[in-house]
Amino acid sequence: MSLAAEIEDAFASLDRTGWDWKDCMPLVERVAELENPPFALTGAYQAGVLLKPIVAQRIAGLFTMEPEDAGIIAECVSQSKGDYLEIGVLYGGSAIIASMFCRGQVYGIDPFEWGPTQTHHRIYPKQEVAEANVYSWGLPEPRFFTQKHPPMPPELKNNQFDVVFIDGDHTYEGAKADWDNVRERVNNFILFHDIHNPKHGAREAYIEAMLDPEWEEVYAKKKMGVLRRVK
Ligand SMILES: C[S@@+](CC[C@H](N)C(=O)[O-])C[C@H]1O[C@@H](n2cnc3c(N)ncnc32)[C@H](O)[C@@H]1O
Repeated sequence: MSLAAEIEDAFASLDRTGWDWKDCMPLVERVAELENPPFALTGAYQAGVLLKPIVAQRIAGLFTMEPEDAGIIAECVSQSKGDYLEIGVLYGGSAIIASMFCRGQVYGIDPFEWGPTQTHHRIYPKQEVAEANVYSWGLPEPRFFTQKHPPMPPELKNNQFDVVFIDGDHTYEGAKADWDNVRERVNNFILFHDIHNPKHGAREAYIEAMLDPEWEEVYAKKKMGVLRRVK
């Protein structure tokens, strides 16, 4: 049995009542073993890691991602030539990192409707706030859409992307719907965030996606998992 299949079996047999995500750590470690060395980390990764705290300090609102995860966004975008789409923009932190390395257009989709409990210092995560954060770095104009994904905004209905970052609705259903609706439109990398935390369900959607023969897992560390198109 392949390691991926073993992980799938173990994951399927977990008792989900009263789950604490730490119970899943042994499984998390097995998934980390799948990291594929040919996915080389270059200077773009290092730059992303270093830039993350600087971006977090300078933007209005929050950018709480691990620096290594920002490094991976930088790496995947810099290994690609085309457009980047992110599902889940919030205050624009990850979009800023992507914009710094992207040779195509940066797109983002978010309903921008997080409630006051998630709102940082009363700065509501609105499209204008995220856009202003990107502009404050002198980066090219991003194209953000205030709506939930799916569906894809009508303006993007025929677009292909080189990189898609799934960081929106972290339920299993939400992350799976994102994957199902974007995978045919992605030429290079699909990144899933929060794959370490089974409470989010994004992890389960990621593990299913990882078994798709058209994709291979090239990286899984910290909270980020990366699939690369193989055919
Ligand atoms: C963890 S935050 C994203 C963080 C962001 N990538 C960053 O760099 O800081 C999750 C975001 O996903 C958004 N979201 C939730 N459901 C969504 C959906 N169905 N489609 C798009 N975005 C969604 C939320 O509004 C929230 O802003």
